[in-house]
Amino acid sequence: MEENGEKDGQRSIENVNRPCMVSILRNGAINNKMKQREVLRNLSWRQLYCGKNEYIIELNDSRALKFIQHQQSELQGIGTGGTVWPAAHVLAKFLERYYLCPETNTSSMKDLSVLDLGAGTGVAGLVASALGAHVILCDIPQVLFLAETNFLKNKDFIQGSIQICPFDWGQLSTTTTIVQKQAYDLILVSECVLPQLYPLEPLCDAIAFFLLTWKEKKTKALIAYEHRPYPKFDPITKFSQLLNERNLSISKVCATQLDPLYQADDIHLFWIFPQSDHTFLGKEDTDTDHRALICLDWNGHEEKQIARFQMDQTKFFQLELSQQDEIGCALWPSALVTAHYLLAVDPSQKKSKTWHVLELGAGAGLVSACLALRGHKITSTDVPYSSALKLLKANLSHFDNVNILPYAWGAHHHDHEDYNYIHSTQFDLIICSDCLYNSSAVTPLLHSFIHLLAPSIHNKKCPALLLVNEQRTALDSFLRAFRLDPSFTHLDLIKLHLPPSFALIDCLPPHRQPSPIAAFYIQPKGIKTEGQQPRTPSVAAPLSHWIH
Ligand SMILES: C[S@@+](CC[C@H](N)C(=O)[O-])C[C@H]1O[C@@H](n2cnc3c(N)ncnc32)[C@H](O)[C@@H]1O
Repeated sequence: MEENGEKDGQRSIENVNRPCMVSILRNGAINNKMKQREVLRNLSWRQLYCGKNEYIIELNDSRALKFIQHQQSELQGIGTGGTVWPAAHVLAKFLERYYLCPETNTSSMKDLSVLDLGAGTGVAGLVASALGAHVILCDIPQVLFLAETNFLKNKDFIQGSIQICPFDWGQLSTTTTIVQKQAYDLILVSECVLPQLYPLEPLCDAIAFFLLTWKEKKTKALIAYEHRPYPKFDPITKFSQLLNERNLSISKVCATQLDPLYQADDIHLFWIFPQSDHTFLGKEDTDTDHRALICLDWNGHEEKQIARFQMDQTKFFQLELSQQDEIGCALWPSALVTAHYLLAVDPSQKKSKTWHVLELGAGAGLVSACLALRGHKITSTDVPYSSALKLLKANLSHFDNVNILPYAWGAHHHDHEDYNYIHSTQFDLIICSDCLYNSSAVTPLLHSFIHLLAPSIHNKKCPALLLVNEQRTALDSFLRAFRLDPSFTHLDLIKLHLPPSFALIDCLPPHRQPSPIAAFYIQPKGIKTEGQQPRTPSVAAPLSHWIH
């Protein structure tokens, strides 16, 4: 029975590409020029080396890595590792795009230690070593001769190093090999989520072993997966569940980050990393990864962008963004950093306290949405009659605990209900994320703080949290004006030392990470200030800019 099951599974793998293409065609590819191009694109690169003994992967610097394929491998008992799988090609080209900076041609894979699990022909690992990584290619013993052959064939392109070792992830608990004895920066797993052929549990155990044994190494895994319907369950859903049970999170790489040519609608890449422990961030110097927010997906091609987020295993949400050239309609790096930080320090988890938070210049509403989902009461504001306010309403109006109000910094409308409400309410926290984007914002914001943090109103010591991209010129002027203005002598300005992990934006490659984000608390006197001068000014851009 089992044997038949396996054969059925193998047959379904062999046939998988066709139904998928058919479904794309069925969904309107013929009438839609864009989709037609996509289908041709998917087909052309996928079919090029199909059935050939040699598979070529070209890097952008004109290096062409050549891989011997063993067409009869499944029939000759070698298994599935004899040919280059399309998902491995997508993964290889993603590694190049993600780790290689096109402007400087420097690779942030240089000297990373990488393990390619179930390496087969060795494509993913060999491309990683061509980008400078020190790689162990491992597989079951009978497949390794192919990895060896392909290593020798591409020896001249290797910039890191290659070791080839037998390792069966199903034998993790019964044998100890050199593969298990060291820590890695990255685990590559291409086309191994195949429940038709291999049970998922041992693979998940192996990934958990490598990611959780050396926590300080911050090992991540990168999975390449081609979707094939499986009658018993959806493979990737089940795989995600098993990872979650092992305290791992999974986050899809958005399509805009993949190589524009080497991608297909049914091939997906996923990052896997340890789940955040949402410890209260009391100590400023910890570098533990407390991030609770994962940027899941980014649809950057349409006029209207949708960004999807995951807060924990049950809370997913999406925000609409806009391609319009309006500052408030984009998603800014500091919004993600603010959200990471606030979710981590959220005392409601420990003290069951609900904050009433005022957000100024809330834009697309990411920070307000995160805090609202944690149960806090939010007053979320943006410029009256602006597209940002419209977007804020579209994104947050379904929350019962969010009050969306028009509020322009520095304006005094004594007879205006909303302004009176904002200036007279006792908030627990005021948030201002990337609002100092140019010098014209400095004076109005300072005026608003005069009102919002006036001692007569806020006896309860309401702090304001400011997150600013350090490269903004306006930060300098704001800090200078704040220190000189007598209206603020009763307040302290405290620079927060954010752990570097907060500033890491998962959905961006290393060379596209935005400039550092500075965080300040403005609050009633009493706490030591640790002021620091901001860096040299230059232009800062929204996340969408970094992605393309
Ligand atoms: C579909 S192939 C993918 C090969 C290659 N990573 C690629 O994407 O081109 C799956 C690979 O997983 C390997 N594999 C299957 N079970 C394994 C196990 N228990 N331990 C180690 N490798 C295994 C197979 O030998 C095969 O090379």
